[in-house]
Amino acid sequence: MLKQTLLVTALIGTTLASSAAFSGHGEKPHATPWSNFALENKIKAMPKGDALKGQKVHEQMMCNACHGEKGESPSRNYASLNGQTAEYTTKMMLDYRDGRRWEDYKQANIMVKLAKAMDDQQIADVAAFYASNPSTVWDIETQPVTAKIDRLVRKGDVSRMIVPCASCHGAHGEGKGITPAIAGQVPEYFVRTMKAYQTKHRKNDVAEGMAQFTHDLTSDEIQALADYYATLNK
Ligand code: HEC
Ligand code: HEC
Repeated sequence: MLKQTLLVTALIGTTLASSAAFSGHGEKPHATPWSNFALENKIKAMPKGDALKGQKVHEQMMCNACHGEKGESPSRNYASLNGQTAEYTTKMMLDYRDGRRWEDYKQANIMVKLAKAMDDQQIADVAAFYASNPSTVWDIETQPVTAKIDRLVRKGDVSRMIVPCASCHGAHGEGKGITPAIAGQVPEYFVRTMKAYQTKHRKNDVAEGMAQFTHDLTSDEIQALADYYATLNK
């Protein structure tokens, strides 16, 4: 654990000291995409997570420096992890570890390095820890939800081949299994990751479904969806 703490200190030091260090490209790792079958088997084969141990890993590996005490990101640049399903967090850590998720060198590099330093048990433990903490409800000023956005969420849009967000992410954005909770997500991160799917810079999802659903969304719609989900339970 001490070795890991030193690694993280060094990594965070470089990130904070010089963002220029992250504007390089680095070698993009390649991994075979998941099939439903392979993913299901891997998730089933993971050890059982322990939330209390996960909290220790979260602190000792300094995940809290960027993702907050309980996973609620203090900075608008980082994703929130509290209230996330354990399966999705697990999948993300495996995707970073194997180089499947690498949409943007500047953002993903540190996560790739950290995930490589973790074993399956530590990944299962942090995933259990985040799942045990309730998600955030953002108290921010947003545009009122329009009928168009409400329709996208609940009914989708056949003309653009968009399946309703709620049919997968749940009526309250609570997620299920490998489908992430999106309620309470940091709106800036939400927008960034939707655009990464749209431009196919993020393509770690099985069969690239999110690339299809974001393909014809406008920037305004993506922003409105981010605001909608950030404040959903307000
Ligand atoms: C220096 C800041 C930093 C540290 C430290 C850090 N993260 Fe991250 N994390 C990020 C950023 C930035 C992203 C979004 C990356 C992207 O856009 O690809 C992220 C994304 C994630 C995601 C994916 C979230 C999602 O909704 O898809 C998970 C899971 C995660 N981090 C877990 C961890 C864990 C566990 C640790 C500690 C071992 C950790 N992070 C430490 C910055 C950090
Ligand atoms: C067919 C099911 C399905 C539909 C419909 C769907 N999603 Fe997703 N979504 C997923 C899955 C599965 C993932 C995780 C992909 C991965 O492993 O990277 C995901 C990922 C996301 C993420 C990234 C979360 C994170 O923490 O990084 C966001 C944001 C998101 N979806 C928003 C939406 C919105 C908004 C809609 C409606 C316009 C929508 N999704 C429609 C299944 C779906």
